[in-house]
Amino acid sequence: MKDIYEPVPELVARAHIDAAGYEAKYAASVADPEAFWAEEAKRLDWIKTPTKVKNTSFAYPDISIKWFEDGELNVAANCIDRHLETRAEQTAIIWEPDNPEEGAQHITYRDLHTNVCKMANVLKDLGVTKGDRVVLYMPMIPQAAYAMLACARIGAIHSIVFAGFSSDALANRVNGSQAKVVITADGAPRGGRATNLKDNVNQALLHCDDSVKCLVVRRTGQQIAWRPEGDVWLHEAEANVADTCEPVAMNAEDPLFILYTSGSTGMPKGVVHTTGGYLLYAAMTHQYTFDYHDGDVFWCTADVGWVTGHSYIVYGPLANGATTVMFEGVPTWPDASRFWQVCEKHKVTQFYTAPTAIRALMGKGKEWVEGCDLSSIRLLGTVGEPINPEAWAWYNDVVGKGNCPIVDTWWQTETGGHLITPLPGAIAAKPGSATKPFFGVQPEVLDATTGEVQTETQAEGVLVIKDSWPGQMRTVWGDHDRFVKTYFSDYKGYYFSGDGCRRDADGYYWITGRVDDVINVSGHRMGTAEVESALVAHSAVSEAAVVGFPHDIKGQGIYCYVTLMEGQEPSDALLVELQNHVRTEIGPIAKPDVIQWAPGLPKTRSGKIMRRILRKIAENDYGALGDTSTLADPSVVDDLIANRAGT
Ligand code: WTA
Repeated sequence: MKDIYEPVPELVARAHIDAAGYEAKYAASVADPEAFWAEEAKRLDWIKTPTKVKNTSFAYPDISIKWFEDGELNVAANCIDRHLETRAEQTAIIWEPDNPEEGAQHITYRDLHTNVCKMANVLKDLGVTKGDRVVLYMPMIPQAAYAMLACARIGAIHSIVFAGFSSDALANRVNGSQAKVVITADGAPRGGRATNLKDNVNQALLHCDDSVKCLVVRRTGQQIAWRPEGDVWLHEAEANVADTCEPVAMNAEDPLFILYTSGSTGMPKGVVHTTGGYLLYAAMTHQYTFDYHDGDVFWCTADVGWVTGHSYIVYGPLANGATTVMFEGVPTWPDASRFWQVCEKHKVTQFYTAPTAIRALMGKGKEWVEGCDLSSIRLLGTVGEPINPEAWAWYNDVVGKGNCPIVDTWWQTETGGHLITPLPGAIAAKPGSATKPFFGVQPEVLDATTGEVQTETQAEGVLVIKDSWPGQMRTVWGDHDRFVKTYFSDYKGYYFSGDGCRRDADGYYWITGRVDDVINVSGHRMGTAEVESALVAHSAVSEAAVVGFPHDIKGQGIYCYVTLMEGQEPSDALLVELQNHVRTEIGPIAKPDVIQWAPGLPKTRSGKIMRRILRKIAENDYGALGDTSTLADPSVVDDLIANRAGT
């Protein structure tokens, strides 16, 4: 593997932007953001063109972020209607079902329009109006995209809950957003097995207001329990509605969606994205980062339950009139060639996935890739966590055959779209680095302790952003103070990402991972506090502390230290019970990898758990335990080391 990979010449020739173009455009974007973004805003269709562009302040505690604040537009009209004149018969969505034998669907922009209008009319019939919240708990089926766009069309705010989350997590989010309707399906097939989604919804709705309605898509046809008062089949409701629906004019700053994401403390928070800035930023990054051109087939393997699915399966690609692939299945079923079969079948040109998937497939051997014709692929992308050199090399050599650029895109649920990423025709890649900032993004590296700006190019510290960009989250749903506190109070005057980073002599950024109590399991964010509160909710548990530890496939695994109640005895049966308990409370992705019985936890005299020490023990790195003299009872540490669990 080389240290640096220059842009591929054939790609530079056709790319939207080359190295000189990037430098000039980036300079313009930070020199005069008003003029820059006013010009870029023309890529959207406005009902009322904004006269105001940027009105933002990171001055603590009066954080206020408004873009295009007097503009009006509709997101669904931008993603569908405006394409009808030129590309009504072009495929908008290629849907690839879990089981390859079921056959793919090609949904044209015209079909998309009809389906979205019908679903919008059904939602209206259910009483949903502008500003109401609708929760989606869905498989990766076209109706998930229809539902998002149907909400956008009528001005409702969607909040997608990943279908792998438990009924408890779903109930919390339905209540947190005070949703009027939940949209789901009977079942969700994945890897040849179907989860009964509707059962989970029924469980969740027991804890929600009786008035919450449930709109059900028939996917598997499996038996489900029906709630006669509140449940509606989509196919039945659609038989009675018109197939056109006027898009509602929305203010650029009206919320488009809420997406709950984990933080370092407490319950997940509802990240709020608004209409104009978000769509513009998703569309623009999709075009430049992936060098998207008309006729390309773009595949992002994420789930729509995560922000990556929002921005790069649905909103970015469709705003650009693209053909986007939506995949219901998993990478390893029916066998480990599934991803590559799909690429071959649909002649995918840009492929975007997570390092954890690359590592899992790498482990299966390259023969699964080599049996497929991947000649259509021009570009590869990754997202979600730092990519390790072995996975990068495999992706580059085995999948990309050494001639596809790899874009390692750093961003977050909060940022709406890519903030630091190579642009394939412009920026040379260094394996493991997210490289350079996107237009309008001004990263800084601060000393973690003093908060001082690191003025040398070569620097290490925490990653913050100096000024707003249009795709930035605007607030935490129902709790603006939490927004201010979480992102703007540690380092005043900046947006704090929660990530650590290094900047090299060439000004390239290398993300080193979270510096807070958030762990990244298979590219999924999880607050250690969430897992801890699930554990202590079990009657046998008195106290729990959770940390991440390095895991070959998942990137990080979940390591739990558990102190039992008086009279409770550790046992293998209890261990399995606790693992299952967390799984039921949060979802399968939160299942602990390791549980260690801890008679005591290392605490300071003031009672604060010293997580740094617990992390080191979980990492099997005792040499660097650091100062333990401030502990109330230093002997606790020896016990934890002596009884360390895991490998
Ligand atoms: C991590 C996913 C290194 C990071 C879009 C961030 C990354 C968190 C990268 C956000 C990358 C994401 N390199 N780390 N290319 N991309 N991360 O909100 O720690 O699910 O803060 O958004 O993932 O995760 P989220």
